[in-house]
Amino acid sequence: MKIAVLKERASGETRVAATPETVKKFIGLGGENANEVMLESGAGEAASITDAAYEEAGASIGSAADTVKDADIVLGVQAPDVSALAEAKPGAWVAALFDPFGNKERVEAYAKAGLEALSMEFMPRITRAQSMDVLSSQSNLSGYKAVLAAADTYGRAFPMMMTAAGTVQAARAFIMGVGVAGLQAIATARRLGAQVSATDVRSATKEQIESLGAKAIFVEDVEGIEGEGTGGYATEMSDEYKAAQAKLVSEHIAKQDIVITTALIPGRAAPVLITDAQIATMKPGSVIFDLAVAQGGNVEGSKADETVEKHGVKIIGYANTPAQLPADASALFARNHFNFLSAFWDAEAGKPELDEEIGDAVRLTKGGEVVNERLKG
Ligand code: NAI
Repeated sequence: MKIAVLKERASGETRVAATPETVKKFIGLGGENANEVMLESGAGEAASITDAAYEEAGASIGSAADTVKDADIVLGVQAPDVSALAEAKPGAWVAALFDPFGNKERVEAYAKAGLEALSMEFMPRITRAQSMDVLSSQSNLSGYKAVLAAADTYGRAFPMMMTAAGTVQAARAFIMGVGVAGLQAIATARRLGAQVSATDVRSATKEQIESLGAKAIFVEDVEGIEGEGTGGYATEMSDEYKAAQAKLVSEHIAKQDIVITTALIPGRAAPVLITDAQIATMKPGSVIFDLAVAQGGNVEGSKADETVEKHGVKIIGYANTPAQLPADASALFARNHFNFLSAFWDAEAGKPELDEEIGDAVRLTKGGEVVNERLKG
């Protein structure tokens, strides 16, 4: 099997889909018929991985065209443009982020080209797929980075400090949305010494918030409080719930210095959690980091990769937060790829065979067709 890794082409993308560690492991997977791994020259540069380091791990390095030529599997962070894959083997697998709901044309193009697109963001949230889940691994780093970026922008300190010149008050940080990113944001803000509170629509997160030593801020006594749909994802909430949440948040937010928003609903624009009127109640100098900015944003007026100042409050957010930590983000992403393909490696056939549960979930295209249930209808 030939496994190919191209240099990422998307603007601002610094990650790479393989590391020397996973190159070595992929080669080893083939047993006697060792797999071949090839990378485009400079693929790891932005993540501080040299071509020489890949070569030392057993990979070969070449041009984009040479890398893709006759490849059985192409690994990416963001899916490459289909035009870059013309020389891959017919029916080659491409495992990467496809943004399937946001970029349907790309999915169609992959189908037309006869490629098998495997969408890493469609990995099911089941226990055995945890180690293959790029949304988790990348969100974890994003939650950490969001707090650091907010702390860096904030004109005051996070921890309480007692000095000879007087006391510096601890910052109050509020985390909205307590999935993987939110939990890491809570932990990071606590480590920096802030007083942390958090909220989510899924009531199951209450205990998690408290176990991290933060205060849980929750809407009570409203229909549909469980807030959890299939696979651990949040569901769209009722109007009654939304109104109660907005009131609670308004009261709380006015007392906060730092707010980190992480709320996402798959396949839909991110819910707006903070309106302009709510921003106006916050203290000047407060900072909001909108982790959902690339999906439409949780904060009214937030703009990707820009600092927007409204009512004296700075609103920040990156179009691609994990790309701000390229080395660690790549290491985890690359391991997710390896854990995914190696779990299904059929030693006799010398290639991976996906099972139904995970295969059907991640496979977008096959045999010239769009085959994924979530993209139909
Ligand atoms: P996500 O990225 O889909 O959403 C982030 C958070 O925002 C979620 O906690 C969601 O409930 C919350 N949210 C959505 N709408 C909101 C609103 N209007 N107000 C406040 N909060 C709102 O979530 P993520 O990080 O992927 O995690 C969701 C759950 O799935 C977690 O329990 C996580 O542990 C679980 N999970 C399990 C995996 C596995 O077993 N393989 C892999 C990934 C996550």
